[in-house]
Amino acid sequence: MHVIVGITGGIAAYKATSIIRLLTEAGHTVKVIPTQNALRFIGATTLEALSHNTVDSDLYTDVESVKHVSLGQEADLVIVAPASASFLARYAAGIADDLLGNTLLVTKAPVVLAPAMHTEMWLHAATQKNIQTLTDRGVQILEPAVGRLTGDDSGIGRLPEPEDIVEFALTKISRQDFAGKRFLITAGGTREEIDPVRFIGNKSSGKQGIAIAIEAAHRGADVTLIAASVSHVPPEIQKVLHVQSAQQLGDAIDENLGSCDVLIMAAAVADFKVLNPAANKLKRSELGDHLQLELVANEDILANAVKRIKTQGLSVLTVGFAAETASGPLQLEKLAKSKLANKGCDLIVANNVANGAVFDSDTNNVLILSQTGRSVATEGSKRLVAAELLDVINDLQSK
Ligand code: CTP
Repeated sequence: MHVIVGITGGIAAYKATSIIRLLTEAGHTVKVIPTQNALRFIGATTLEALSHNTVDSDLYTDVESVKHVSLGQEADLVIVAPASASFLARYAAGIADDLLGNTLLVTKAPVVLAPAMHTEMWLHAATQKNIQTLTDRGVQILEPAVGRLTGDDSGIGRLPEPEDIVEFALTKISRQDFAGKRFLITAGGTREEIDPVRFIGNKSSGKQGIAIAIEAAHRGADVTLIAASVSHVPPEIQKVLHVQSAQQLGDAIDENLGSCDVLIMAAAVADFKVLNPAANKLKRSELGDHLQLELVANEDILANAVKRIKTQGLSVLTVGFAAETASGPLQLEKLAKSKLANKGCDLIVANNVANGAVFDSDTNNVLILSQTGRSVATEGSKRLVAAELLDVINDLQSK
């Protein structure tokens, strides 16, 4: 998606750097258009480096490209953050005396503004009238936050956190192709207790599962996330069941399977658990030089869920993940096909974890295989991979 990030002159202009980074990391093409006053607060070099794009503010450079029209025409979304009181007045009045002003009058894309200013300026009748005018024209306004302002004072007027601005903006424009669909998604990695202090775990960070949950929520789904040993779940995922062991994860699936339309098993689930976890901490001084743990198999939660869906005639689309250490793409495909057959799920998302690069990374490289023989390879941010997976799910459901 082509996103324009407009920045106007205010102390919070530096926070736009995080907005740009969040957007580029999610795979969007970002063009930054600061006002001249914004450049008093933040340098064009920083903005160019972060957006991987040239930064334009002046209307009268590069005139032959007709950028004052083309930038607005090409945009899929425009975010202005921070939006100053003076900018709001100019935009409400339709003044186009700089590149940002021109772009805003040309664009047909959704426009999201994140105003930031002192409390008195925000509450002033002129500002409130401008906000009303812009809202009436369909511009989306994210209200300022309450908190510490530039001086010693506090109040309404603070720029909301960059994550919240991006989240708000993307929600406003995303397709609602999963409205009314209930998603049950697992993320993270299970932990099998050895004693009250120690556990057998795995390297899964939960980032991919959470990215899928966020993407599904943006696209209108009612998401329940089963988070296995994940400490931070973003606030936009409202229904979260925290679990630790495979047993607890399995119980949560059992309880919720009957009331979901899509099950996505992104969590790394332990295949074995400790037969008799110790009730008290195992003491090195009492153990000597060897410790033997007896492990017993956990149930295969996904395979059992697929069986239950079939025997009870439930209508649930199932997605498994396959973390494989493959020698290359051909072997990955072979292993993924065999896992798809063993589990019996509708889709399998396979990734090669041979060099350990995927764990805790913000990017992923996956092969999505379906029972119908369709195969989609995709690479990029975990959010981008999530979007691709949801497109495949959408295609399957609309058949
Ligand atoms: N899974 C599960 N229950 C288990 C183990 C795994 O439901 N006890 C799910 C995972 O959530 C994932 C898929 O099965 O969606 C594949 O997990 P993976 O660890 O790649 O495969 P395994 O089933 O453990 O098979 P193998 O160890 O032979 O690769």
